[in-house]
Amino acid sequence: MTMRVAIIGAGVMGQRIAAHFMAAGFAVGLIDPNSQALEIASDFMARTGQDRSRLTLAPALSDLAPDWRDTPLVIEAVPENLALKHRVLRDIEAAVSDQTIIASNTSGLMSRDLCAGMRHPERLVIAHFFNPADVIPVVEVIGGPQTPAATTARLADILRQSGKVPAVLKIEVPGFVANRIQHAMMRECFHLVETGVADAATIDAIVQHSLGVRLALIGPFLQRDLNGLDTHLNIASYLYPQLATDATPPAALRSLVDNGALGRKSGKGFYDWDSALNQRAEALEQALRQVIAIGATAPPNDKEA
Ligand SMILES: NC(=O)c1ccc[n+]([C@@H]2O[C@H](COP(=O)([O-])OP(=O)(O)OC[C@H]3O[C@@H](n4cnc5c(N)ncnc54)[C@H](O)[C@@H]3O)[C@@H](O)[C@H]2O)c1
Repeated sequence: MTMRVAIIGAGVMGQRIAAHFMAAGFAVGLIDPNSQALEIASDFMARTGQDRSRLTLAPALSDLAPDWRDTPLVIEAVPENLALKHRVLRDIEAAVSDQTIIASNTSGLMSRDLCAGMRHPERLVIAHFFNPADVIPVVEVIGGPQTPAATTARLADILRQSGKVPAVLKIEVPGFVANRIQHAMMRECFHLVETGVADAATIDAIVQHSLGVRLALIGPFLQRDLNGLDTHLNIASYLYPQLATDATPPAALRSLVDNGALGRKSGKGFYDWDSALNQRAEALEQALRQVIAIGATAPPNDKEA
């Protein structure tokens, strides 16, 4: 029988999560009260050659056919606003059976806060997809203190079945794993620009052509084993006191955002997003698929995830 998944919110993430499950042969219900978001999602599926017979679009979960009540999984991908997510999670519970797993694609809200007000908080699990969700293999999976291990394992199984690499965390922490590492790196990047060591483009070039290419194929711990842990300890001993430790976001970032420089979506960020750069970003997505295909065959594989 065809597996089903309902996705709530057809924005940047929901659209691509839907595309991932459709490509994996699932029947997908994609829900958004904004008809324009559904249209954009539908156009994307057509443009990328998806089998549209697998997709049902609706403004609300309760508008899907009654047998969708038994869908094994619903994933919410509505904006990162706790009050909105509370409303949406309550609506989901009212529309599905008690066996349905409800996953949140929150970037960093804690499940103990998200599940407040749910009838069955134990069935909420965080499934943190990365953008673009139909390309990046890993999904961080985090059960809250109330979630039985079997529910988390069942969600990981469904993700694995769809072709994703689920990485189940042992406990819930703000930012999970990847965002903590990404923000630690970006804090240092901003510090280096602010102190005049290098500009953004130079830092991009250094990271892309050194750490970046290595990390596409092996994780940081395996890489450190290759380098030698004694060397790492020696460097860490004198370097840690020099690294940025700011407890608030950098002023330069706040100023960009306050001035409407939001990155690609507003046409300006660290870079000017002209048509050449937009084309490069699209080509990059295709190249990323090839890098991922190589990474998937590089030893050791994802057995730890
Ligand atoms: N953008 C990213 O890179 C990224 C990465 C990982 C996780 N996330 C998380 O994923 C979630 C969604 O982010 P996004 O970037 O896709 O946001 P988005 O603003 O692009 O899309 C959200 C969509 O939700 C819809 N929506 C609003 N209220 C709704 C409701 N009641 N029912 C159904 N749909 C509703 C909106 O119309 C919109 O289309 C957030 O929690 C975000 O933190 C985002």
